[in-house]
Amino acid sequence: MGFPYVRMRRLRRTPALRDLMHKVRLKTSDLIYPIFIDERAQEPVPIESMPGYYRLPIRYVVDEARQVIERGIKAIILFGIPSRKDETGSEAFAMDGIIQKTVRNLKNEFGDQIVVITDVCLCEYTTHGHCGIVKDGEIVNDLTLRILQKIAVSHAQAGADIVAPSGMIDGQVKYIREALDDANLNQVGIMAYSAKYASCFYGPFREAVESTPKFGDRKSYQMSYGNSDEALREIELDISEGADIIMVKPALPYLDIIYRAKSKFKVPIAAYNVSGEYAMVKAAAQKGWINEKFAILEILTGIKRAGADLIITYFAKDVGLWLNRI
Ligand code: PBG
Repeated sequence: MGFPYVRMRRLRRTPALRDLMHKVRLKTSDLIYPIFIDERAQEPVPIESMPGYYRLPIRYVVDEARQVIERGIKAIILFGIPSRKDETGSEAFAMDGIIQKTVRNLKNEFGDQIVVITDVCLCEYTTHGHCGIVKDGEIVNDLTLRILQKIAVSHAQAGADIVAPSGMIDGQVKYIREALDDANLNQVGIMAYSAKYASCFYGPFREAVESTPKFGDRKSYQMSYGNSDEALREIELDISEGADIIMVKPALPYLDIIYRAKSKFKVPIAAYNVSGEYAMVKAAAQKGWINEKFAILEILTGIKRAGADLIITYFAKDVGLWLNRI
């Protein structure tokens, strides 16, 4: 027997063999597309640090969603930029607020053809830019819970299929679940941003939705990137509080967390491929330093291979175009 008798290259010999052995494949139904809706905008507003991405006026969102559906994407997640901010973020739960109006429009047009997810948080709606109520420079947990309940119920009443609390406020999943159930909205799901790290990779998003905190940072509620057991505790808590889907965010520096969560819990896991991760790919591609399409497919497949069942990504529409052509 000649050495080497185990030859790994046998199964890599031809394109058909390689295809046969290529096991983790992205599907358009893995992806969730984020949409930013700007109440003041008359026309799409380009976001400088997210080339190719825009804040949309409300009247553009139905067409945008139609394109998303045509490309085989099954879900969108909505973020609102209100024209009026205040200390308590009251526009976030206004019945005629930007998200509530948009959700109603989308559901009138598309019904159950698309899963509408709404981000439930205060940071875009508060003058200080924090994800909770602020008193004496502190983010007050339990006062914030009451507001999050109102936001979630208002989104669900407008027709959202899933609400996604992203503020890392302790108890938010339980409080929201109870409020939804009390309002006879027990069919509405919760996708919990469970393991959300205090990350520099949110920078472009904060520019996009004007949610940069006016003082301090988010480290008293988001997790420190040195920790991993803490992420599993957060996830476990959210599952016990009633989360239907849990999330790890960002994705790329936290593939180990996705993998550990997937191994430990039997709940669908979403990963958020965040704005800074998008910006890095775009910047390198613009310089001609990487092939954009190949980079995106490799990154998203890697996130899926780590264990993500769903990926929130600004690349979803591009991927929809590419996958539908194959
Ligand atoms: C907070 C929120 C953030 C993102 C989504 N919801 C970031 C933050 O903490 O400022 C980030 C998404 C991204 O960077 O793409 N409500």
